[in-house]
Amino acid sequence: MKTAFITGASSGIGWAAAVALGRAGFRLVLAGRRRERLEELARELGAEVPTHLLTFDVRDRAAVEAAVASLPAEFADVDVLINNAGNAHGLAPIQQGDPADWDAMLDGNVKGLLYVSRAVLPAMTRRNSGHIINIGSIAGHETYANGNVYCASKAAVAALTKGMRLDLLPHHIRVAEVNPGAVETEFSEVRFKGDTQRAASVYQGYEALRAEDVADLLAFMVTRPPHVNIAEVLILPAAQGAATVIRKE
Ligand SMILES: NC(=O)c1ccc[n+]([C@@H]2O[C@H](COP(=O)([O-])OP(=O)(O)OC[C@H]3O[C@@H](n4cnc5c(N)ncnc54)[C@H](OP(=O)(O)O)[C@@H]3O)[C@@H](O)[C@H]2O)c1
Repeated sequence: MKTAFITGASSGIGWAAAVALGRAGFRLVLAGRRRERLEELARELGAEVPTHLLTFDVRDRAAVEAAVASLPAEFADVDVLINNAGNAHGLAPIQQGDPADWDAMLDGNVKGLLYVSRAVLPAMTRRNSGHIINIGSIAGHETYANGNVYCASKAAVAALTKGMRLDLLPHHIRVAEVNPGAVETEFSEVRFKGDTQRAASVYQGYEALRAEDVADLLAFMVTRPPHVNIAEVLILPAAQGAATVIRKE
């Protein structure tokens, strides 16, 4: 049984990825800050999917290192790492941006991904085997108005994915990036700081992706034979043509 480590498993894409990979026969390390959500997920997965829960903030390097070091032997040899934890915080012109939001995005989406990868990688390099999928975004490839720092954080994920792929090549570790367009999750609720009406309006008038759509793709990617690396995928709702161009009915 292979082991997959999923960050941001307490919600949205990460939660759905846990369900899809559990079904695909993986043993799961599930990480997030909200312990009770992870417990609920583990219950939903049932006894046939072995799970180990880790509660930490990806921005806290010491906490990341301690959590990964605490993995019991049967979960420690991570085969698949899905760097999914992340969020947008705010949507404002740069001159009105809140530096606390900038910190949250750069520390979480970029440095958090680095800390988790750095902590998990010895288990992969030692065995010359592994598969890392970074969840980027269409926003990392197409900067939109008021998206400034979120777009920059995801552009960093794109650059890091390429850098990791090159550096980890000698170790037979596959590194890939999945770039979703609009997915209906808690993402917009977080971005708009609990304004549920504004968050809901992001997904009105068209059919957004569901977290399960992205999870299906992830399950497909991690079950390819070892010589195949689906290195970069842009996954959009059919109604989306570009980051901020959506056909609404
Ligand atoms: N939804 C979209 O339209 C969309 C589009 C493109 C890319 N993405 C990307 O997809 C990924 C998942 O987002 P989602 O749409 O599933 O949003 P979501 O429902 O808000 O889930 C975000 C997940 O990340 C975790 N997380 C956030 N900050 C964290 C931190 N500092 N430390 C630990 N965990 C943290 C959250 O867990 P806790 O709060 O429990 O810690 C949660 O499980 C993100 O990287 C996002 O940027 C989303």
